[in-house]
Amino acid sequence: MERALIILKPDAVQRGLVGPILTRLEQRGLKLQGLKLMRVDEGLARRHYAEHEGKAFFAGLVNYITSAPVVVAVVAGKSGTIEMVRTMVGATNPAKAAPGTIRGDFGVEIGRNLIHASDSPESGERETAIFFQPTELITSWDRATDSWIYE
Ligand code: RTP
Ligand code: MG
Repeated sequence: MERALIILKPDAVQRGLVGPILTRLEQRGLKLQGLKLMRVDEGLARRHYAEHEGKAFFAGLVNYITSAPVVVAVVAGKSGTIEMVRTMVGATNPAKAAPGTIRGDFGVEIGRNLIHASDSPESGERETAIFFQPTELITSWDRATDSWIYE
């Protein structure tokens, strides 16, 4: 089992692309473990994007992600899920992202690239813990009832 934190960034929410983007992830076979609409404050943005602190685009990135509500989700699947999701998301710069990818089909600006996805299993776990309480996640599968169980 592997999971990724997904953020549908403010531009995705404002443009009404929450449904189409989540549909792609669901149709591929990924399972939702958590999902919510929220506002990201500056502290949360800085913590989430700590690896980029000091870079030229950092202030703009924090401004962007805190500018309006986002949808955050945790999607889970078997080993290799993170790599698969990153392939579906496409290159960081939508102008260079391949057609068929989320960024390549819906965007054109690097500063408005619609979606975040964790880039390793470790960041998937770190970022999930930043955005979700364990009680907000469905984390295990009950074979007896064929359903997810809340922790
Ligand atoms: P993300 O973390 O959001 O999934 O995106 P990513 O892995 O494809 O790209 P990353 O290098 O982690 O950059 C994080 C976000 O910062 C913004 N960015 N702007 N102006 C620029 O040169 C620039 N570079 C990065 C983008 O919003 C990118 O998604
Ligand atoms: Mg990244």
